[in-house]
Amino acid sequence: MKIIIGSDHGGFSLKTLIVAHLEQQGIEVEDKGCYSEDSCDYPVIAKEVARRVLLAGARGILVCGTGIGMSIAANKFKGIRASLCNDTYSARMTRKHNDSNILCLGERVIGPGLALDIVDEWLVTNFEGGRHEKRVNMLELE
Ligand code: RB5
Repeated sequence: MKIIIGSDHGGFSLKTLIVAHLEQQGIEVEDKGCYSEDSCDYPVIAKEVARRVLLAGARGILVCGTGIGMSIAANKFKGIRASLCNDTYSARMTRKHNDSNILCLGERVIGPGLALDIVDEWLVTNFEGGRHEKRVNMLELE
């Protein structure tokens, strides 16, 4: 499994933690920035990650202060189903029911322990398909 990851300055510390956490598990990570706590623009990073996720058929993680800006920006892309999760239940269900391909997290909203649990839950949970397949396809009709 390969994970494409990105953050703005508001999510930089949590992104650093997540990269280390994933690499410890032998998961390949492609880090699209940012690379310091200097202020930067979350839409630029979200677009970069969304494009790579679509191109590589991979899954992605985006972190900003709230996770909201990242999710709005990523969901502009056809084929991206970015889910902002602040709890493990949502992380599990958005994989099962929505086939989420980008996880968004807010560094200023949740603590690092919960954030890593959310990442783990989202990573290991598979899409259920079945009746959810039709609904996920309906997301692309507009
Ligand atoms: C940056 O200050 C902040 O606006 C950003 O990280 C994010 O929370 C936007 O949605």
